[in-house]
Amino acid sequence: MTVRKILIHPDPRLKKVAEPVTDFDDDLRQLGVDMLETMYDAPGIGLAGPQIGVMKRIFVMDCIKSEDEKPRPMVLINPKVTWTSEEMFTYEEGCLSIPDQYADVDRPAAVKAEWTDLDGHRQSERFEELWATCVQHEIDHLDGKLFIDYLKPLKRQMITRKMQKLKRELARD
Ligand code: NI
Repeated sequence: MTVRKILIHPDPRLKKVAEPVTDFDDDLRQLGVDMLETMYDAPGIGLAGPQIGVMKRIFVMDCIKSEDEKPRPMVLINPKVTWTSEEMFTYEEGCLSIPDQYADVDRPAAVKAEWTDLDGHRQSERFEELWATCVQHEIDHLDGKLFIDYLKPLKRQMITRKMQKLKRELARD
């Protein structure tokens, strides 16, 4: 298991559309394991391929936050939202590629999604609230979209400038 380096916004790879996964092999399995390890290490509840510079349509998530509940590590490959609720849900989102910045984002409160698992089997499930938010946030990553793209331009620019400063500081260390 390897904790991979998480890219920080702004980075051109975070703006690109990722390619479908075609090979369900040992490398993909290793990638899934590494991505879960990287997400838990951060810690975060979701991580998409482009965030570690892998331009493939894969993301991992586990929205169980309580220590009393059993973890639910999930690896979703070539995911697709097939239905969204009319009801909306607002959550103060963050992102491992935009550290320590949070903002309210409105998204459908429930979604149905389809994906392929690491064994190559097609899966589908209905997700609600935080899980639904996470699925939509991560699929956005695969389409080169960040949660700050939903914010007003001024707020987005402010966050981007903070991240540019953070990256300069990190580069100096
Ligand atoms: Ni994110």
